[in-house]
Amino acid sequence: MPNKENGVTRGVREPAVAGSDQPREIRIRVNGSWRSFRLESDLSPATTLSYVLREKLGFTGLKVSCDEGACGACTVIQDGKAVLSCMVLAVEADGRDVTTIEGLPADDPVVQAFAEQSEPGYGTAMQCGYCTPGFVMTARALLNDNPSPTLSEIKDALAGNICRCGCYAGIAQAVLRASAKIAAGRSAS
Ligand code: FES
Ligand code: FES
Repeated sequence: MPNKENGVTRGVREPAVAGSDQPREIRIRVNGSWRSFRLESDLSPATTLSYVLREKLGFTGLKVSCDEGACGACTVIQDGKAVLSCMVLAVEADGRDVTTIEGLPADDPVVQAFAEQSEPGYGTAMQCGYCTPGFVMTARALLNDNPSPTLSEIKDALAGNICRCGCYAGIAQAVLRASAKIAAGRSAS
């Protein structure tokens, strides 16, 4: 069931379409495996994708911080595009392909670049790490579309993600580093 924090019912959105035309079974491909849910028994028409991913499937890498589309901590990749999973209904994800940070391989250039850019001190991409999965997934989606972004393009793409620790410069450097890794991988193959 959705939980309540600070008076806000989390994991629930107003369904865009409610009624008998909703599919009774919701199937979402998550990190390569199809997962099925029954409407009304497993989830409601108003259940969010973020709730399903975290609470039903245990993919807790994504964070639900604002739960209203303002922070980017819940970002996942849906059909190749970065989406805010707190703003997507589970029924809207029916038949879609969803990747959470757990679905990225350890040798993914973006994962590696953020890990390498995490040395303490000026220039780190990561202090507490709470925002990191959201930034990594946003960056991954950006580099899928544009493997060689400019710094300005990186800043634009990451504009919807918030880092309370203020690691923005390091995060941008990590994305540039990931881009360089992708280019190096291409020239080596
Ligand atoms: S938790 Fe989804 S944007 Fe903040
Ligand atoms: S590293 Fe702490 S919120 Fe970004």
